[in-house]
Order: sequence, then structure tokens, then C-alpha cells
Amino acid sequence: MRTGKSNARRWRSLLLLVAFVGLIIAYMTLENRDNAAQSPALTAGGDTSTASPSPSDEAAVSPSPSEDGAATPVPTPSDKPEETAKPTVKPTVKPTAKPTSKPASGGAGSGGSGAIAVVAQPESITALVNKQNGLPREYEPTDLVFPDVPFLFKEKIDKRKLRKEAAAALEEMFAGAKDDGVALAGVSAYRSYATQKALFERYVKKDGEAKARTYSAYPGTSEHETGLAIDVSGSTGKCAATSCFGGSKEAVWLDKHAAEYGFIIRYPKGKQSITGYMYEPWHLRFVGKELAKELTDKEQTLEEYYNAVPVTK
Ligand code: DAL
Ligand code: ZN
Repeated sequence: MRTGKSNARRWRSLLLLVAFVGLIIAYMTLENRDNAAQSPALTAGGDTSTASPSPSDEAAVSPSPSEDGAATPVPTPSDKPEETAKPTVKPTVKPTAKPTSKPASGGAGSGGSGAIAVVAQPESITALVNKQNGLPREYEPTDLVFPDVPFLFKEKIDKRKLRKEAAAALEEMFAGAKDDGVALAGVSAYRSYATQKALFERYVKKDGEAKARTYSAYPGTSEHETGLAIDVSGSTGKCAATSCFGGSKEAVWLDKHAAEYGFIIRYPKGKQSITGYMYEPWHLRFVGKELAKELTDKEQTLEEYYNAVPVTK
């Protein structure tokens, strides 16, 4: 009997032992599995520390946006206004050209005072150009140069030009005046047809056509378009191309000496019924020394010299 009981006890103890060992094995297996699952996390953790350059990359990147931020906004706005400013320059040039293309407000072709003959030899230095004798519509002198004399303005523009021969004579005349203590300056020399047209129209608007025609030539009939005429003043510009220039030291000198250099006072006092223009002591026309001396000595106008029909309008 006792043997049966002790055997049963032995079997129970054995089962308990097996169960205990099984539990330990099971626990150890679970432990290993958890460790195996966590190991990648630990590796990443190590990488994270080596990945600390990441933040430093951000730091290296962060200056970029701030540089871009500083650089981008500044140049962009400052460039754009410049671009938008450019067109404002263009219109200032265009309006000056526009008036020349407007139709003449005076009488067409005749200039309101009868037919105008076309000058046969417009390039001749002795050509008669007046209210009745106009230049061919497309005429432009071919030997315009900048005379080396002072003008009342600095720009190298058309109205500073004269034909070569006249320019050389002008340089001599200014030097001669200077030797006599008279400082001269150019006011206005060559004008294109378009410029004369714009000028004439401006004066017509200002004073009406009848009055304008006493001091301004209809386009195509101005001596300024030949490149042989120039308006001269004193170097101060006082009374430049206005009636108060008459009687000035410079006007007196020009009246006395211009012919020595080949120039004439083209619209003298008391000859308005012949030339068609009021007295212009500043308007010099180059005709060459020979003719200038003859006309001055005889107190003749070009109209009288050529027996041209007196210009009364
Ligand atoms: N002042 C002169 C007449 C011209 O316009 O040519
Ligand atoms: Zn003039």
C-alpha cells in the first residue's frame, strides 16, 4: 500500500519538475525573442547619434534660405524699377520728333505768298534762298561738320553744324573777334527741313502766321537749311537772337568785320521790304569773301545783287 502512495508522490514531483523546467524554457525563449525585436531600435539609436550631422546639415541649409531671402528680394525690386524707368526716357525723345511730322499750318507749297521757285544749285555757296526761292524738298548738305567754336549749348547736335567751308571761315572769324576782345558764341546753325518746319509752326502758334513770317522762314526756304547760315551772339548769350542784340559790342563788331571772313548780315536794317524779314543783326550767311565784300561795300542784299523780285511778304 505504502509503495503505491510513494510512487504516486514520485510521479507528481516529476510532473511538477517537468512543468517548472518547461516554464523556465518558455520564459527564456520569450526573453530571446524580445531582445531580437529590440535590437534594430538600438542600432538605429546608434545611427541617430551618428546622424547628428543631420541637424548640422539643416544649419548649413538654413543660411541658404536666409541668403536667398536677402539676395532675392533686394535685386528684384531694384531691377524692376529701372526697367520700368527706361520707357520714360523714350517718350522724351519721341515728342521732339513728332511735331515735325505734323502738316504745316501755313499755306501749303506757296507758303502763303505766291509760288516758290526751286533753287537750281542749292549746294552753291552763293545760292539765293528766300521766300520765293526754296530748296529742293529732299535737299541735305553733304559736307556738314562741327566748327570748333563755342556755342551757347554743349551738345553735339545738328544746330551746331555748318558746311565745311563755312565752318572753317567761322573759326577764323571767332578767332579774329577774340583778338579784338570780342567773345562770340554760336546760337543756331544748320537745321533740317523737319526742324525748320517744327520751329516755324511753333512761332505761328505763338504769334500767328503773319507775324511769324516776318522773322521765321517757311520750311524749305530757310538759309539755315543750306548749312551756310548761323545765328551768333556774345558768349554770355544775352539778347541771343533777339532785337536787343542790335547795337551790342558783338553786333557792331560783326557788322564791321563779318565780310572779311566771307559772311554777310543777311537781313540788314531798313531792307525788310526787300528781304522779307525784319532786321536780324545775328543772322550771318556765308557767301565767300569775294561776294561778301562786294555786297557789304555796296550795301546790297542778295536779292538786289541777283535783281530778284523784292520780297514784300
Ligand atoms: N530767321 C530766319 C529768317 C530763318 O528762319 O531762316
Ligand atoms: Zn538765323
